[in-house]
Amino acid sequence: MNGKTPTVLVIGAGGTIGGAVAADLRSRGWTVITTARKSGADLRLDLTAPSHDWPVLPRADVALVAAAVAIMSECRRDPETSARVNVVGTTELASRLVKQGTRVVYLSTNQVFDGLTAHRTADSAPCPRNEYGRQKAAGETAIRAMGGTVLRLSKVLEANSGIIPGWAETLMAGRAIQPFRDFNLAPVTLNHAVEACRTILADPQDGIFQLSGDADLPYSEMARRLACALAADPALVQPASFRDKGLLEEEFPPFSTMDVSGLTHRYGITQPRSEDVMDATIARVHP
Ligand SMILES: NC(=O)c1ccc[n+]([C@@H]2O[C@H](COP(=O)([O-])OP(=O)(O)OC[C@H]3O[C@@H](n4cnc5c(N)ncnc54)[C@H](OP(=O)(O)O)[C@@H]3O)[C@@H](O)[C@H]2O)c1
Repeated sequence: MNGKTPTVLVIGAGGTIGGAVAADLRSRGWTVITTARKSGADLRLDLTAPSHDWPVLPRADVALVAAAVAIMSECRRDPETSARVNVVGTTELASRLVKQGTRVVYLSTNQVFDGLTAHRTADSAPCPRNEYGRQKAAGETAIRAMGGTVLRLSKVLEANSGIIPGWAETLMAGRAIQPFRDFNLAPVTLNHAVEACRTILADPQDGIFQLSGDADLPYSEMARRLACALAADPALVQPASFRDKGLLEEEFPPFSTMDVSGLTHRYGITQPRSEDVMDATIARVHP
C-alpha cells in the first residue's frame, strides 16, 4: 500500500469482530466506513433486504465482510433466512464490491470442517457437518471464486460476553456450573482476531488464512481455570457431557485447531497457546 493505509469498508460493524476491527483501525488513523443493520454506523445494510434497496456502497480499497448469522443454533432453526444472509446476501455483496474494484476479505470459521481431525490445513477440502458450517463454506467458495481472501477463525474468546461472564457470576454467587468435558475449544482472543484482520486488510494478497489456538482443550478446563482465578470453590465446577443435554454431535466437534502456518509464514503471526488465551481472557473478567 506504499506506506498509505487503505480505505476500509467494514460490513457488520455492529458485531463483535467487525466492531472491534473498525475501532482498532480508526484508532490507528485508517479511513473506515462501516455498515450495520441498526443506527450507529455510516450506512445501514440488511443483507436480507432486496439488494436493490441496499445503500450505494462507497468504493473502498478493501472490505471486511464480518456480517453473518454466526450462531449455529440460529442457522439450524432457520436455514432459509440465515442462508439469505450467509450465502445469498454475502455473495451478492461481494460481487458488487469486486465489480467496483474493492478487494474482499471474508471472515469464516473452523466449522467449515467436520472437527474430527486436529490442525486442519488451509488447503483441506471443507467438510462441514452442520448448517452454519455449510453456509460458511458456501460463502467461502463464492468469495474465493471472485478472488477474495478468507480468514478462518476458531472460537474468539471475550471477557465480557459469551459464556465466561455468566459462569463467573454463578461461581461468585456460590452456585455450580456444568461446563462440557467433551466439547473442546482452541480459542484466540479478540485482539488476536483483530490483529489478523488488520494485517490481512493491509496486504493486497488473496488466499485462505487460518487462526486458532494451538490445542483443543475442554470447556471444563476453561471453567477450572476461571474458578481458580476467582478463588471460587473448585467443587462448583461440575463437568458434564453435551450428549446428556440432547445436543447434536455435529455441532460439538472434538477439534477446532487449524494450521496457522499461512499467517506465520506470510505475516509472522504465530499461533497463540490455547491455555494462554483462556488465562488472558479470564484475567479481564470483572464479576
Ligand atoms: N466470534 C467467534 O467466535 C467467531 C469464530 C469464528 C468465525 N467467526 C466469524 O466472524 C464473523 C463475525 O462474527 P461475530 O462473532 O462478530 O458475530 P456477531 O457478533 O454475531 O456479529 C455478526 C454481525 O452480522 C450482522 N448481521 C446479522 N444479520 C445480518 C443481516 N441480515 N444483514 C446485515 N448484517 C447482519 C449483525 O448485525 P447486528 O449488529 O445488526 O445484529 C452483526 O453486526 C462471522 O462471519 C462469523 O462466522 C466468529
